[in-house]
Amino acid sequence: MHPIVNAEQAAAWNGPEGEHWADQNRQSGDAGDELTSALFAAAAIESTERVLDVGCGTGETTRLAARYARNGRVTGVDLSIPMLDRARELAAGEGATNISFEVGDAQVHPFASASFDVAISRFGLMFFNDPVVAFTNLRRALRPGGRLVFVCPQVPQENDWYTVPIAALQRRLDGAAAAGPVESGMFSLAYPTRLVEVLTAAGFTAVRPSALDALMRFGPDAEVAANFYLGSGPVLALLQQHGDLTREAARETLVEAIGPYQTETGIQIPGRHWLVTANRP
Ligand SMILES: C[S@@+](CC[C@H](N)C(=O)[O-])C[C@H]1O[C@@H](n2cnc3c(N)ncnc32)[C@H](O)[C@@H]1O
Repeated sequence: MHPIVNAEQAAAWNGPEGEHWADQNRQSGDAGDELTSALFAAAAIESTERVLDVGCGTGETTRLAARYARNGRVTGVDLSIPMLDRARELAAGEGATNISFEVGDAQVHPFASASFDVAISRFGLMFFNDPVVAFTNLRRALRPGGRLVFVCPQVPQENDWYTVPIAALQRRLDGAAAAGPVESGMFSLAYPTRLVEVLTAAGFTAVRPSALDALMRFGPDAEVAANFYLGSGPVLALLQQHGDLTREAARETLVEAIGPYQTETGIQIPGRHWLVTANRP
């Protein structure tokens, strides 16, 4: 077993949240969403490249990367055993032969040095308890001249997909009990100065965060979206903190809050992100 230092995250992503994500199919299933297209355009993966997908979850981006690196190979790494089980199943279902998955904590995982040309991540790099150590480990895994390309969210107030449902639940709770936002590792790289500082301290050069506005997709209707939110970390934390908020009441509140985001192609909620590129010198 490889070392795990982000024990709380490991417990969350191997517990109810991981099981829930493994079951859900929030993702678009192709590169059609703006965020994923922007990630892959910036990564510019070539056919023979060796790609690392960090915090790959159920492996949607890993499978996409494998199509670009058709004569190369792609490794997905994640803390979550249930999500990787699902990722393996989905990759096998596509008949992909150039993908492998490894259970591990990317912060300390013993990747072979200089063994990847490019590391990518969609929302998988914000959860490290020591980001400089983690990004240093990723830099070491890249060959000299290798690239790091990832997306992460900007501050919560720029992300309706986060604030709208959470604020609705908080309004439903009474006064003092509802005070204070639910903190989440999700926004640990939200400030670009901090982001550049961390990556530079980890030895990356040419660190560039570019603003990326994109609609986030949450399934065909508000019921499905509410179900997704009910199993997500921030909502699970709220439910745990406030025993008086029942799941049913939370579901009702979420459906009402999400309803206005119904479009012809399902629930789409705006978000503001960073698309980050950096080089391993
Ligand atoms: C928000 S999900 C994103 C999953 C996937 N990249 C996607 O776009 O569907 C974050 C993922 O990061 C993983 N993760 C969190 N901390 C990690 C760590 N230290 N090492 C490896 N994976 C981690 C979680 O298990 C989870 O699968």
